[in-house]
Amino acid sequence: MQIFILTISPETFQGPFNCGLFQKAVDKGIVKVDIRNIRDYTHDKHHTTDDSPYGGGAGMVMKPEPIFEAVETIKAELAQQEITGVPVILMTPQGQLFTQAVAQKMNQYENMIIICGQYEGVDERVREHLVTEEISIGDYVLSGGELAAMVVVNAVVRLLPGFLGSPQSLLSESHTDGLLEYPQYTRPQEFRNWAVPDILLSGNHAEIAKWRENQAIIRTKQRRPDMIERAN
Ligand code: ADE
Repeated sequence: MQIFILTISPETFQGPFNCGLFQKAVDKGIVKVDIRNIRDYTHDKHHTTDDSPYGGGAGMVMKPEPIFEAVETIKAELAQQEITGVPVILMTPQGQLFTQAVAQKMNQYENMIIICGQYEGVDERVREHLVTEEISIGDYVLSGGELAAMVVVNAVVRLLPGFLGSPQSLLSESHTDGLLEYPQYTRPQEFRNWAVPDILLSGNHAEIAKWRENQAIIRTKQRRPDMIERAN
C-alpha cells in the first residue's frame, strides 16, 4: 500500500510513522508513506497556503491552488506507473465518521492521497472537484487534520497482511464483529488476591469460546448499547 499525505506540517508525522510496528511495516515494504509539504506546491515568495475567507468571518481558509497542484503532481507520477483512479481523502470534522468498517474498506486501496485540512477548512472547490471521500475521526474539532490522518493510517495499515505478528487477533478484537472484545488475562494466575476466571484455566476450548462470546455481549450491552442495537 502506498499512502501520500499532504500537509503544511510534515514534521508532525515523525513519531507515529517512525517507530514500533509501523516502522517495521515500512522496512518490510508492506506500506510506503510519502509525506508532501503543501508549501512546496506554492509559487509566491512567502509560500502562502491560506487566505482570509470571502464574505468575511474569523480564521483563514486553505487556498485551492497548492492543494490541486500537489494532488495533480502525485496523480501524474502514479499515471506513469499506470496507476489511476486513486482515492483522494480529505480529513475534516464534516466527513463520514471513521469506523472499523471504513478502515476495512480503505484497507483494500492500493494507493491513496490524504489531505490534512487546517485553519477554518479548505476552499470548497477542493471538496467539490478534487476530493473523493471526506473522513472525520469523531464529533470534535482538532486544530488540523494531521492527528486524524495518523489515526486513519494506523487503523488501516495494521490490517495489512504481515503487519501483525498474529493476524488471528484481528478476528476477535473489538469492533470487528460489531461487539467489544471479551476480557483478557495473562500470568500470574493470581495477582493481589484477584484470580483469573476458572473457565480460562479449564482447557475446555468450546466452553472458553462460549464464555468469551457471552462476555463480549455483556460488555457491549453495558458499555455500548448503541452497538447492540446496530448488530440486531
Ligand atoms: N480536522 C479537524 N477535526 C477533525 C476531525 N474530527 N476528523 C478529521 N479531521 C479533522
